[in-house]
Amino acid sequence: MCGIVGFIGKDNGVEFLIDGLNSLEYRGYDSCGIAGIVDEKTKVIKTVGRIKNLEELTSEDLVFNIGIGHTRWATHGGVNKTNSHPHQSFNERFTLVHNGVIENFSELKEEFLSDKKMISETDTEVVVQLIEVFAREGLSTKEAFLKTISKLHGSYALCLIDREDADTLYVAKNKSPLLIGLGQNCNYVGSDALAMIKYTNKFLEINDGELVTVKADSVLIEDKNGVKIERSPFTPNIKYGEIDKGVYEHYMIKEINEQAFAMRNIISEYFDGHDVKMDQEIIDAVKEADRLYVIGCGTSYNAGQMSKEYFEKWAGIPTELHLASEFAYNLPLLSKKPMFIFLSQSGETADLRAVLTKLREVNPTYKVLVLTNVDASTLSRESDYTLLLHAGVEIAVASTKAYTSQIAVLSILAYQVAKELGKAPNLDLEKELSVVTTAIESILDDTKEIKELTDKLFTERNAFYIGRGADYYSSCEAALKLKEVSYIQTEGFAGGELKHGTIALIEDNIPVVALITKSEFDLSTRSNVSEVASRGAKTLVITLEKLAKEGDYAIPNVHETLAPIVSIVVTQLFAYYAALGRGLDVDKPRNLAKSVTVE
Ligand code: G6P
Repeated sequence: MCGIVGFIGKDNGVEFLIDGLNSLEYRGYDSCGIAGIVDEKTKVIKTVGRIKNLEELTSEDLVFNIGIGHTRWATHGGVNKTNSHPHQSFNERFTLVHNGVIENFSELKEEFLSDKKMISETDTEVVVQLIEVFAREGLSTKEAFLKTISKLHGSYALCLIDREDADTLYVAKNKSPLLIGLGQNCNYVGSDALAMIKYTNKFLEINDGELVTVKADSVLIEDKNGVKIERSPFTPNIKYGEIDKGVYEHYMIKEINEQAFAMRNIISEYFDGHDVKMDQEIIDAVKEADRLYVIGCGTSYNAGQMSKEYFEKWAGIPTELHLASEFAYNLPLLSKKPMFIFLSQSGETADLRAVLTKLREVNPTYKVLVLTNVDASTLSRESDYTLLLHAGVEIAVASTKAYTSQIAVLSILAYQVAKELGKAPNLDLEKELSVVTTAIESILDDTKEIKELTDKLFTERNAFYIGRGADYYSSCEAALKLKEVSYIQTEGFAGGELKHGTIALIEDNIPVVALITKSEFDLSTRSNVSEVASRGAKTLVITLEKLAKEGDYAIPNVHETLAPIVSIVVTQLFAYYAALGRGLDVDKPRNLAKSVTVE
């Protein structure tokens, strides 16, 4: 992961470097640093911990007309100042920031640097030392940079400065995301558009294998043979204000609250009256498939599980769920006419990019649709089709509104496909999604009871969510949410499966929360609840008003197929309040990052 920034211009770039890193902190936050050239010397400031620590080390009179910055999620070497970026070559001429993983760094070290004692334990340092080695052989900085890149295996987004040339940033990427921001009398580099949106809304894409030379008044993109590439800038669909916390204490609670708003956006983007408004090519591609392969990671994978409910039950198309990190290395047997649906909030996840690469190798004619929240993200650019989630920027590491939006967009796609296949599901989806929106609002209007329930329920080190069918899928997501932000070890289980082993873990006071949003599972899941209650568990049932019994938490009645979009909101709030109650950093849980761009 990690986030990188770069600046070159006539004004002082320090503020941008710090602001940019603050926006990129979601990509990793164990250490950070900036570097710039001042009076022909390179000044490097690094620290362990958050960007706010870096800010404290940055004096007001610091001026960088050229600079780079980095926020780290450690992959090679422990979390300490030496391993944090920027990294310098031995003679301190070259300074580099890197996001990604250099897979052959040990081999390169052996081949070119075996007589040298490295400063850090990182793969990145090998890159900057190689540039120095090649420059010492007489190559120009650009030639040395190119030669180094040609030897790298793995993923990288790189931004290099050369003490002997304070007018140029050297930039390249492979698999890791990176954009150029175009300013006035200055230019920017950043891992994503959010890092630069306060300063510019004009961006240039960089493709894998290109070399970009950035100056204050020009950007030159070349392929590896030095052939100039012309590219028009684009303006993404984000605004600076969207990334504010507004009146909320944390992004997570802001984003939980934005779910009703996101639902409304989705309805207005994907419906025209009661008719679905969606790219016909996408609908046709799904209709023609004999099997759907839905692939994602983390929360997106959990949202994908729900797609079986819609594609199989409404449209009758067999649907398989796969974890991206497994799929890329353990390809399942594919059907004759497969269609691939990728779910990725960020559109940058490396495990999914690996699946895309694999699929293109297996059969370049396979069609890939990505559902993502980020317009012009890497996966969106590289896949055949995109459906945007329209959830608005999601900043908290724990994904909430992207999850419910993914389910809603999947349901609309499946609904239209079913209709066109003559299997029209018996509901008016536009209307039912509006009912869902109102139900979410009514839960969010009064969260006092949910907060009190959190304090009563989640007092132990362990917890369980159980459910059947779609409620089992929700249980997996509810468990992931609780564990990632509160560090309570939580498992999501199929209600009937608990008794086949895991019930051994139930003892006095262990919380077991059951989700029941389908009448057909009411009795069976309640009997699972009795089984654990009689063994000492503290239990709670979250269910629809029409099924509720005394002591349950009742959510408003909505169409049963869409109810998981509503019930999950209660569990997101449990996770939020549990983390808050433990005094944890809700928006940035330990060891995690929002956008995982390493495999
Ligand atoms: C990381 C995040 C998760 C997210 C997963 C997939 O692990 O911490 O919240 O669900 O990546 O991300 P994506 O952007 O592909 O949905």
